[in-house]
Amino acid sequence: MIAAQNCVVAASSYGIGSCYIGDVVENCEKVRKRLHLPEGVMPAGMVVFGYPTDRQKQRVKPARSPLSGVVVENTYPTMDHEYRKKLFEPKAGQRSYEEWISMMCQRKHNAEFFVEMNRSILEYMKYYGVRQD
Ligand SMILES: Cc1cc2nc3c(=O)[nH]c(=O)nc-3n(C[C@H](O)[C@H](O)[C@H](O)COP(=O)(O)O)c2cc1C
Repeated sequence: MIAAQNCVVAASSYGIGSCYIGDVVENCEKVRKRLHLPEGVMPAGMVVFGYPTDRQKQRVKPARSPLSGVVVENTYPTMDHEYRKKLFEPKAGQRSYEEWISMMCQRKHNAEFFVEMNRSILEYMKYYGVRQD
């Protein structure tokens, strides 16, 4: 992931855009075959590169969470309701925080790809004796 991030930064300096693809951990059987992965090897991530279109360059970037909520020092904070609200409220835009978080939950955690992601990672982990339940 360190190498990937170096590539992303270097590419950006040449005007080349990138996108991390965490979805590469899904469909382990197909990915293993396509990439000739030996037993015990799991892709941690994938990055794709390309020249962004003018529309992409002009895209208004989504609101970011405050840095204080993303970078923590020494100890991990207790992520209670209030903390999470402060962290994600800027992303909710016109919606209420509750509406936004429940929409994101549907789109990510409750989505089919998430079930597949969990299944696929467990399949990779079998090699290391990780329990499947
Ligand atoms: C660890 C990680 C994994 C990601 N995996 C995917 C992915 O599988 N598919 C995808 O379309 N984008 C993926 N992204 C890109 C995000 O969806 C998002 O577009 C990117 O982080 C830029 O954020 P922004 O749209 O808020 O500028 C990933 C980003 C990160 C950091």
